[in-house]
This record gives sequence, structure tokens and C-alpha cells, in this order.
Amino acid sequence: MSKVAIIIGSRRTGNSHHLAKKMMEHFKKERIISNVIIPGNQKIFLCTGCMDCDINGKCDFKDDMEDNINKILESEALIFITPTRWNLLSGDLKIFMDRLNPLYTPKKLENKKMVAIAIGGKKKEEYSTEAAITSLGSFADSANMKLVFSYQFNECLQANDILEQEEEINKMMEELIKKVK
Ligand SMILES: Cc1cc2nc3c(=O)[nH]c(=O)nc-3n(C[C@H](O)[C@H](O)[C@H](O)COP(=O)(O)O)c2cc1C
Repeated sequence: MSKVAIIIGSRRTGNSHHLAKKMMEHFKKERIISNVIIPGNQKIFLCTGCMDCDINGKCDFKDDMEDNINKILESEALIFITPTRWNLLSGDLKIFMDRLNPLYTPKKLENKKMVAIAIGGKKKEEYSTEAAITSLGSFADSANMKLVFSYQFNECLQANDILEQEEEINKMMEELIKKVK
């Protein structure tokens, strides 16, 4: 049975949360276990850049990243859902990514599957969510992960807007499941 981690870059009960909830329903039907991580609701210290983790593969901070890292290690695929912010990924996700650095030198992210999903208020033609996907893809690249699927939801400004796109979510999930299974 495969296991995935869904990492949500928004703190509000908004579009990213709604999408993650729908995703979990689809995964459950396929007997895929999903663990949700919402970095913004956790205690996560900012990376100081000391680089000790490059030597010993450990971070000195004692916070929620210990549990998060265990969840990441046991997942075959990491699914990042980001609200688009200034054409980029959310700050919560960037803080989370920086704290994954202890996994870099021991190559523990290498060859994991990565899924990048961006949600934004703007229209598709404005290429804003596309830029957010690019920033998630750059992380995957740098960590030597395999970006197996990406998707953009546009015109989702208010917290519940994505719920109007249920059919699109269902279609996307059909494709996504094929890639992470
Ligand atoms: C600080 C900030 C910056 C934003 N920048 C963008 C942007 O560059 N492009 C865009 O399409 N939407 C932008 N938005 C809108 C959010 O992406 C949109 O509301 C999204 O649905 C938020 O996801 P959530 O409901 O999961 O929080 C921004 C929102 C905030 C709060």
C-alpha cells in the first residue's frame, strides 16, 4: 500500500484545505494512505543556515519538524499544495523546505515522487500560478526528486471558490493517482 504526504501551504480553511480534503477521499478509495502536514499551524523554527545538518544529518531544533521528517521519510510521494503569493510559493512552505535540509546530504529525498499544485486568485492567462509551480519545481529539482505531476487552479480568490471546480478536481485526481501509485 503506498503512502503520501500532503503538505498544505495555507493556514486558513480555504482552497488548499478543501482540495486536500477531496484528495484524501480519493486516496482512501484507492487504499493510498495520506498524512497531512500544515506547517503554518505548527511550531517550526526558522532555519539559521548553520549547516550542522550537512555534517550530521540532524537539526538541533526540537520542534514539529522531527515528526514531519518521519512522515516525509515514510512517504513515497510528497504533494505540495501552495496558495500563490506574489507569483511564488507560500512562505510557510519555504520555511518547511529549508528545514528539510537535514535530508539533503544523506540523499533521503532523492527519487521520491513530488506533486506540485498551485492555487491562485488570478486568471490562467496571467501566468501567476504557473510561476508558483515553477518555484515548487525548482525545489524538486534541487532535492533530486521526480516531479511526476503538476496542476494549477485559477480564479480561486475567496476561501471556498475551489469548491465550484469539483469536476475539474475529480478529473485531476484520476491523473494524479496514476502518477503516485
Ligand atoms: C499575500 C498574498 C499574495 C497573493 N498573491 C497572489 C498572486 O500573486 N497570484 C494569484 O493568482 N493570487 C494571489 N493571491 C490570492 C491567493 O492565491 C488565493 O486567494 C488562494 O486561493 C489562497 O489559497 P487558500 O484559500 O488556500 O489560502 C495572494 C493572496 C495573498 C494573501
